[in-house]
Amino acid sequence: MFRPTYPIRTARLTLRPVTPDDLDDVYAYQRRPDVVRWMLAEPRTREQSRASVAAMAGEDALRAEGDCLTLAVAADAGVIGTVELVWRSQADRTAELGYVFHPDHGGRGLATEAAAALLDWGFGEFGLHRVQARCHGRNEPSARLMRRLGMRQEAHHVASYLFRGEWADQLVFAVLAHEWRSRTAAA
Ligand SMILES: CC(C)(COP(=O)(O)OP(=O)(O)OC[C@H]1O[C@@H](n2cnc3c(N)ncnc32)[C@H](O)[C@@H]1OP(=O)(O)O)[C@@H](O)C(=O)NCCC(=O)NCCS
Repeated sequence: MFRPTYPIRTARLTLRPVTPDDLDDVYAYQRRPDVVRWMLAEPRTREQSRASVAAMAGEDALRAEGDCLTLAVAADAGVIGTVELVWRSQADRTAELGYVFHPDHGGRGLATEAAAALLDWGFGEFGLHRVQARCHGRNEPSARLMRRLGMRQEAHHVASYLFRGEWADQLVFAVLAHEWRSRTAAA
C-alpha cells in the first residue's frame, strides 16, 4: 500500500485525506455550473456531494492499480479543492492527474501549487515514471495549468469523445520523472 505521510504541506496549503466534515466546503464548489463546465459531471445536489465526499474519503492511499488517491487542499479559507492521482499501470508506473478548485480561490497559483506537491509525491515517494492529464479541448484554464506544471502537450484528439451529446476534442499532456526532477531542481 502506498500512502503519503499526511499532511503534505506546501508554502500556502495543506494536503490531506478528505473527511466527512469537508462536505460544506466541497459542496460549495461542486454545486456550481461553472466548475463542471468542461467536465463529464453535472452540478451536484448536497446529497450527491455527501456521497462524493464519502467516496473521496476512502481514497487516501493507492492499494492497487486503478485506485485513485484524492487529497483535500486546505487553505486558510478551508478546503478550496481537491487534487487526485489515478494509478493507471503498475507495470508502466503511470498515473493520471486531476484537479477541481473553487473559482473564488482561482488565479493565485494555488491549484498549481497543490498539483505540484502531488506530483512530487508521485514521482518521488511512489516512484512513477510518467504522469498524464487530459482535458476538454476548450478547457483553457486546465491546459494552462498543465503547461505551468511543465507538462508537454502530446496529443490533440479531434472529436474523440461525446461531451454533453456532442463530439469534443481532448488534449493530452504528460511529464516524465526525469523531466519533473530536472524542473524541480531548476526551480
Ligand atoms: C483547472 C483549474 C484548477 C485552474 O485554476 P486556476 O485558478 O487557473 O489555477 P491556479 O490556482 O494554479 O492559478 C493560476 C493562475 O493564477 C495566476 N497566478 C497568480 N499567482 C500565481 C503564482 N504564485 N503561481 C502560479 N500562478 C499564479 C497564473 O498566472 C494563472 O493565471 P492564468 O491562467 O490566467 O495565466 C480551475 O479552472 C478549475 O478547478 N476548473 C474547474 C474544474 C476543472 O475543469 N478541472 C479540470 C478538469 S480536466
